[in-house]
Amino acid sequence: MKQTLLINNLNETILLGKILSSSLPKKAIIALDGDLGCGKTHLTKGIALGLNINDNIKSPTFNLINEYLDGNTPLYHFDVYRLNSIDELFLIGFDEYLKNPGIKVIEWASLIKDVLPEDTNYINIFKVPGENNKRTIEFNFSKYFKEVLKNTIDKFKKEVKNDSSNS
Ligand SMILES: Nc1ncnc2c1ncn2[C@@H]1O[C@H](COP(=O)(O)OP(=O)(O)O)[C@@H](O)[C@H]1O
Ligand SMILES: [Mg+2]
Repeated sequence: MKQTLLINNLNETILLGKILSSSLPKKAIIALDGDLGCGKTHLTKGIALGLNINDNIKSPTFNLINEYLDGNTPLYHFDVYRLNSIDELFLIGFDEYLKNPGIKVIEWASLIKDVLPEDTNYINIFKVPGENNKRTIEFNFSKYFKEVLKNTIDKFKKEVKNDSSNS
């Protein structure tokens, strides 16, 4: 089931990640797709913040994965843009990461969609033509995460509304 959300600015992208991760189970997989500069890494930053990870989150472009182990739950941040073959992924122990506790966020996930499990939750980010800061977020979550998605979107809408009424 696909659901979409319109985001107005960078802060909202970060807020969305924060709200999402604060209710994610410890083994959740979030697969991110969207053009360069659409906000995959900033959404991941929000996800990290929701887990109480305050590191400067950067795309792990040259080493495939960054690990953040000092939050409420481990966060494994993959970026598979430069992956040469699926073998390379398994050499770094991808299947072990999937089996073990920890939230997995994968940028450019569609490049490895064949090896992603059934309970993967997909998020596609689209730039809005003619708008620098707006994004359309398309969620395609697994059936096991319907409730998480609903709660995330409800809470996001409530907080954004509160924000604008306070300013
Ligand atoms: N609503 C928004 N969400 C995310 N990023 C935004 C938004 N509006 C503007 N930006 C800018 O777009 C860029 C997104 O970069 P990044 O998160 O690294 O994208 P990606 O990882 O998809 O390549 C940043 O420079 C950020 O400041
Ligand atoms: Mg990135």
